[in-house]
Amino acid sequence: MSHPIIGMIANMQDMEEYRSLHWTGSFEDYLEIVRRQPSVCRNAYQRLYDLVMSFGTEEYTEYKKRIIRYKFFDDPFDGGKDAVFGIDVHLMKLVNVLRAAAMGYGAEKRVILLHGPVGSAKSTIARLLKKGLEWYSKQPDGCLYTFSWVNADGTEVASPLNEDPLKLIPLDLREQVLGEIGKELALKYPLRMEGDLDPVSRFMYKEIMAEVGGDWTALIERIKVRRLVLSEKDRVGIGTFQPKDEKNQDSTELTGDINYRKIAEYGSDSDPRAFNFDGEFCVANRGLIEFVEVLKLDVAFLYDLLGASQEHTIKPKKFPQTVIDEVIIGHTNEPEYRKLQSNEFMEALRDRTIKIDIPYITKWQEEARIYHRDYNKKRVARDIAPHTLEMAAMWAVLTRLEQPKKHNLTLIQKMKLYDGKLIPGYTEDNVKELRKSAVREGLEGISPRYVQDKISNALVRDPDGRSINPFMVLNALESGLKGHALLQDEDTRKRYREQLGMVKSEYENIIKKEVQKAITADEGAIARLCAGYIDNVKAYTQKERVKNPYTGAYEDPDERLMRSIEEKIEIADARKDDFRREIMNFIGALSLDGKTFAYHTNDRLYRALELKLFEDQKDSIRLSSLVSNVVDSDTQKKIDIVKARMIERFGYDEQSATDVLNYVASIFARGDTSEEGG
Ligand SMILES: Nc1ncnc2c1ncn2[C@@H]1O[C@H](COP(=O)(O)OP(=O)(O)O)[C@@H](O)[C@H]1O
Ligand SMILES: [Mg+2]
Repeated sequence: MSHPIIGMIANMQDMEEYRSLHWTGSFEDYLEIVRRQPSVCRNAYQRLYDLVMSFGTEEYTEYKKRIIRYKFFDDPFDGGKDAVFGIDVHLMKLVNVLRAAAMGYGAEKRVILLHGPVGSAKSTIARLLKKGLEWYSKQPDGCLYTFSWVNADGTEVASPLNEDPLKLIPLDLREQVLGEIGKELALKYPLRMEGDLDPVSRFMYKEIMAEVGGDWTALIERIKVRRLVLSEKDRVGIGTFQPKDEKNQDSTELTGDINYRKIAEYGSDSDPRAFNFDGEFCVANRGLIEFVEVLKLDVAFLYDLLGASQEHTIKPKKFPQTVIDEVIIGHTNEPEYRKLQSNEFMEALRDRTIKIDIPYITKWQEEARIYHRDYNKKRVARDIAPHTLEMAAMWAVLTRLEQPKKHNLTLIQKMKLYDGKLIPGYTEDNVKELRKSAVREGLEGISPRYVQDKISNALVRDPDGRSINPFMVLNALESGLKGHALLQDEDTRKRYREQLGMVKSEYENIIKKEVQKAITADEGAIARLCAGYIDNVKAYTQKERVKNPYTGAYEDPDERLMRSIEEKIEIADARKDDFRREIMNFIGALSLDGKTFAYHTNDRLYRALELKLFEDQKDSIRLSSLVSNVVDSDTQKKIDIVKARMIERFGYDEQSATDVLNYVASIFARGDTSEEGG
């Protein structure tokens, strides 16, 4: 009996899949595959584009423009780990470039250059594309093939560039054959397979052709076709190039090198079999090559790269130009790019690259999604109090925004407008204008990586302690500013600190409102207060008297009660008659429609009632006594009810609800009961 775990693993293993991924067959078998599924001979751009499209799209409108969200960018491969949020407009540009390249409109002859500030998801996007290609090559829809030569003695020589077997069809006939294949099954784009075979295959082609006396059918018998599975780890079809030391850059890293040991075996250094086609360009053939920090490349190198993309060829030492089929994508940080802007070779670069801006997120809630993804319950063992990640996200976004030029708009308000909130006096067109006039917005500010680091710091500090709250994270964000490597000037640091202050006071407003809501969540009390107010207003506007519910006596309307409510929403004494009439008209209009008025029907009145009730109850539960830690059992009961509401309504746990109540109590103890507008 084998161990149960071995049995379990065996059951989970998919033998069928293994066999299909390791399929081998003859050239003729391959032609049959191609006939059934011409998409197997798509080029690298076409395959990548189809991969992205295969996950479908969603649409929405923003500033009256139709925006397409490609679901591929939700990262379907890794449970959303590399999902890219909040920059759909830019991702659309990227996909459009891929589409143009797939169609062969010229974009395939350019380096796709992702350009943006540090930590704007450039590497994430590249990683997602690579991961996707690996995955796709294992799916029935995404499969592709390559071949080996079989020597007379049975040994095999693989095509080092993993060429498509159809490239064995002589160049002058190939186009015709591809045309036939394409015609049979209308593809979205023309099939293309350019250029000659790789040097090893050319060499073998000649050798074997000589052996078989020029008989192509016999030559093809010596071909073994196999499925090709792309894998960065196995160095198949996916490459990454990262410039290290500037002085140490060597073109062999890109195109491969002579294998001196093998020269002895083959007798000559011009025998392609004595060459290692293991440069990054060779490895990445059929898939994608990523150039990390491409502008740090040595200039000579860069010209090689531009040539490779323009001509689709590379030049391995001692061998002729060799055609490659791979997506070339590079990225560069914004400061690097700017530094080189005046440089002469940038001219050449601009001409041969397609620059796609990848800015920071400037929408608060989208930024918050990053941190919710990274620090959800499944990933961190520690509780995170409500609003903690939102506040970190708010600050990050604030640092990226340009100060609004209109005097009556604060930075916080601008941030909220961008986030889709409504502010009286601002239309969608205004917001669009605001965005347009701020050119460098999203290219500067704090990177998500900095925020992630500081949240992590806050999480690991005092690890068996309580749940972490916004103050802990905001403090970590603040103290990190001192040593922030990318922050040279004191002015910026000062601005960031001020923005942390803005976030703190936003947070205080939010929790004050929550506590107020939790205290006034007693529906009976607010409904009674509302009824009392309306009775009085009705009597007041109709110049009548009100019946006292206890004594039954008729009395004048209770001016103090009415004013105490109205003052909560800043109805001036001179405006009170208007307001009261408006309320009565509102109720009248409702009843004409057959509707009844309730305390929550009118937003403004509702808010006023909540605040009034809060004021009344705050004293009755003596929230402020929390601060002094002497709480009698009656008060404690009331506080517990409020706490329970905090937990139920706003997602607090016991600890964080207590913290927030204490904190809000201390604010009120300072005498600050003013109502802030948001
Ligand atoms: N728009 C975004 N959507 C989701 N995550 C993002 C976004 N921008 C940055 N991040 C996160 O920030 C971190 C840094 O991103 P990275 O791709 O390494 O940046 P870059 O290569 O541009 O310097 C990653 O954890 C990434 O998930
Ligand atoms: Mg990066």
